[in-house]
Amino acid sequence: MERLDKVLANLGYGTRKEVKAIVKDGIVEVDDVVVNDSGMKIDPEKSKIKVFGKLINYKKFIYLLMNKPDGVVSATFDNYDETVIDLLEPEHQVFEPFPVGRLDKDTVGLLLITNDGELNHRLISPKWHVDKVYYAEIDKAVTDEDVKAFAEGIVLDDGYKCLPAKLEILEADENGSRVNVTIQEGKFHQVKRMFISRDKNVVYLQRIKFGPIELDNELEEGTYRELSEEEVKILKEI
Ligand code: URA
Repeated sequence: MERLDKVLANLGYGTRKEVKAIVKDGIVEVDDVVVNDSGMKIDPEKSKIKVFGKLINYKKFIYLLMNKPDGVVSATFDNYDETVIDLLEPEHQVFEPFPVGRLDKDTVGLLLITNDGELNHRLISPKWHVDKVYYAEIDKAVTDEDVKAFAEGIVLDDGYKCLPAKLEILEADENGSRVNVTIQEGKFHQVKRMFISRDKNVVYLQRIKFGPIELDNELEEGTYRELSEEEVKILKEI
């Protein structure tokens, strides 16, 4: 059970004080009865709440799929740069969501954003080995030896040996290569550092898949949508 004013404030109907005022004005109904006590306890999942006669779709958690653009940081706050949270509409920001893991500032593509701490923990925990697939462009020719080295486990500059990764060559010649890389970890700058260990550089990096969720090609960079109920369900089944 939660206080009505808290529920409404969390839904973006204003501060607790503002919410108190709209309740006093007789604008809020709970289970078809006009209420005037903003401190009343309700079960937001079960009670039918109406504001200005409009039924509210209460939810505790939101799950967003963003196509992250270049130049934006995967954080909730930053002193200098725009964050992925800055790109959200106020109606989603009120849920106080955060990115699931991080993409580098210059990495684009699939980023999940949620306020579901438990799911976040599971998705980024090294224990669960969630596959992350990246499309990358490399400055040199990627070879079958690179594929083999990725499969055996690349050793990074700090001595860390990565889990086996799948490297798939889409196109490769001396001018550069296009590849897909699947990793199960999320070490700092991992894909870039894996290629550096092979004396090659990533010049473009885009995440195209996170676990069972694929990047939505309908989403332009910098835009997002809510995950469907089906997508949330399969994500929770991981
Ligand atoms: N690997 C990287 O190097 N950067 C990312 O943003 C994600 C994976």
